[in-house]
Amino acid sequence: MSIRPIVTLGDPRLRLPGARVERFDKELHTLLDDMIETMRDAPGVGLAAQQVGVALQVCVIEVEGQVHELVNPRIVQLTGEELDLEGCLSIPGFFADRLRSEKAVIEARNRRGRRVRLTGTGLLARAIQHEFDHLQGELYIDKLPPDAEMIPVSELRERAAGDDGGTGPSDGREEARDGELATMA
Ligand code: NI
Repeated sequence: MSIRPIVTLGDPRLRLPGARVERFDKELHTLLDDMIETMRDAPGVGLAAQQVGVALQVCVIEVEGQVHELVNPRIVQLTGEELDLEGCLSIPGFFADRLRSEKAVIEARNRRGRRVRLTGTGLLARAIQHEFDHLQGELYIDKLPPDAEMIPVSELRERAAGDDGGTGPSDGREEARDGELATMA
């Protein structure tokens, strides 16, 4: 296994839609192993093949200690809405509030070509949608509203440190912001 360099914004390889995987062979297994190691090293909760410069329908997600390997995924259900901070390992140093479906169901193949189905809510649902977009050559910043703010990580840290728990609706936000580093994918 090896850590591969992560491709960043501006590199055209991020914009290539992934080709379907036809062979579930050793080459695919090496790619998946390397992607998991690269994701953990970053660290992030997800990584798509485009982010290591490979235009294939392959992504990995790790949320709450569970690793998911998704090959040729297809979203079968999206329900609800949730606005939360989101970041991308290919756009380092920034986050933005991004509207996503609150629940996502995806069908894919695992590394052996067997059919798998994954249902996620909250962070897992967000990661599923984020990685699926990568596989189409899309980035989370593509569908932000025109007035959306790209928030530097340093500012999030200041906000988290400077807010000692006032009352009001911002409390939940600040708690969410404390975990923001975990939402890079
Ligand atoms: Ni990303």
